Amino acid sequence: MASERWNPSVVSLILFSLLAIASAEVFFEERFDDGGWENRWVKSDWKKDENLAGEWNFTSGKWNGDAEDKGIQTSEDYRFYAISAEFPEFSNKDKTLVFQFSVKHEQKLDCGGGYMKLLSSGIDQKKFGGDTPYSIMFGPDICGYSTKKVHAILTYNDTNHLIKKEVPCETDQLTHVYTFILRPDATYSILIDNVEKQTGSLYSDWDLLPPKKIKDPEAKKPEDWDDKEFIPDPEDKKPEGYDDIPKEIPDPDAKKPEDWDDEEDGEWTPPTMDNPEYKGPWKAKKIKNPNYQGKWKTPMIDNPEFKDDPEIYVFPKLKYVGIELWQVKSGTLFDNVLICDDPEYAMKLAEETWGKQKDAEKAAFDEAEKKREEEESKDDPVDSDAEGDDDDAEADDDETDKEADDTEESAHDEL
Ligand SMILES: *[C@@H]1O[C@H](CO)[C@@H](O)[C@H](O)[C@H]1NC(C)=O
Ligand SMILES: *[C@@H]1O[C@H](CO)[C@@H](O)[C@H](O)[C@H]1NC(C)=O
Repeated sequence: MASERWNPSVVSLILFSLLAIASAEVFFEERFDDGGWENRWVKSDWKKDENLAGEWNFTSGKWNGDAEDKGIQTSEDYRFYAISAEFPEFSNKDKTLVFQFSVKHEQKLDCGGGYMKLLSSGIDQKKFGGDTPYSIMFGPDICGYSTKKVHAILTYNDTNHLIKKEVPCETDQLTHVYTFILRPDATYSILIDNVEKQTGSLYSDWDLLPPKKIKDPEAKKPEDWDDKEFIPDPEDKKPEGYDDIPKEIPDPDAKKPEDWDDEEDGEWTPPTMDNPEYKGPWKAKKIKNPNYQGKWKTPMIDNPEFKDDPEIYVFPKLKYVGIELWQVKSGTLFDNVLICDDPEYAMKLAEETWGKQKDAEKAAFDEAEKKREEEESKDDPVDSDAEGDDDDAEADDDETDKEADDTEESAHDEL
C-alpha cells in the first residue's frame, strides 16, 4: 500500500509542485491590508505648490466584495496623483517578470488612466511626476469613445515605445486585474482577469530596434521588366472597311420643311446625327500578357542599422513601482500590486482576491445602482419642464409606465 502511494513518480510530482510554488520570487507585493501602507508608499510633492496634488483615500470603495479589503483611491477631481513604493533593486535578466495590479473605476470614467509604472533606480520619490523617466508603463487608459485600451509602454535606449497592437481595456465600474508578463525569450503576454488578451514578441509588437530587413535602396526596376498584365491581342485584326464608317450620318427621320424654298433658302440638307454603327477608333482587344512578370517589388536586404540585442527584455535596475495620473473625475481604486517572477503565483493571487470577491462586488454594485436610480427619480419632479435634460426624460419614461399601469388596472376594474 505504502509503496504504491509513495511510488517515485508521485513523489517527484509532489516535489515538483512544491518546488514550483516555493520557487516564486516575489519582489514586491502590496495588498494594502493594514494602515502601514503609508509608511511603504511615498507621496510625491509634485504639483503641491499649485494645489493640484490629489489626496488618496484608503478604502474598499462604495461597492466591494469585502469591506475590509481596502486599496487606495483617488478622492479629488481635477488633480494630479503621484505616489510610489520602493523594493530591493533587481534585474529581470534570465527571469520572467510579472507586473500585476487591480484597478476599479468607481466614477464613470470619461477620460483618465488606471495604469501603473515600474521605475529604475536613480529617481527621487518626492519628485516623482509626469516627467520622471520610467521603465514600464502598463494598464488601462480611457478617453472619450476613441481611447479604451491597455497601455504597454517599454522604455528602451531612453525612448518610450508604445505597443503596436490594440488591446481593449475594461470600461465598467468594477474591479479588474491587469497582468503584464515579460519573458527571457523576449515574448510577452497581457492578461485581464487572468485571461490572456494579447501575446507576442517584443521584436514584432514594439519598434524597440530598427527593423531587421529593409528595402534595398540600391535596387532598381530592370529596364526590361514586363509589368503589363494585359496587352493588345496581336492576332486581332482591324475589320475591312472599319475606318470608312462615318461618325455622323444624315438624320433619316428629318424631313424637308414644307415651306422650304430651294430657290430662296438654298439646297436643303438634313441635319446630322451620331452614327450608331460608329464605334470609335479601332483598338485591338486586350489579352493576358504571356510575358507578365508581376509587379516589381524592391528586394529586402538585411538592415545594416540592425544589431540584435539579446537583452532587449532586460531592465537591470528595477527599484520602484508608482502611480502617476491626472484625473478629471476621481474614484479610481488600486489594489493588490504584485511584482514577481512567476505567472502562476500571480494568477493565484488574483484568484484569491479579485476572483473570490467579484460576484459579491457585482451584487453590491447592482444594489448601489438601483438605489441611485431610485434617488434620482425621487429628486426629479416628474412634471418639471424647466430643464429638458436627460434625467427629466428618464423621469417622464417612468411616468409613462405608471400611466400604462393605471390604464391596465382600470381595465381590470371594468371587467
Ligand atoms: C473615502 O471613501 C469612502 C467610501 O467610498 C467614502 O465614504 C469617503 O467619503 C471617502 N473619503 C474621502 C475623504 O474622500
Ligand atoms: C539609441 O538612441 C540613439 C539616439 O536616439 C541612437 O542614435 C542609437 O542608434 C540608439 N541605439 C539603439 C541600439 O537603438
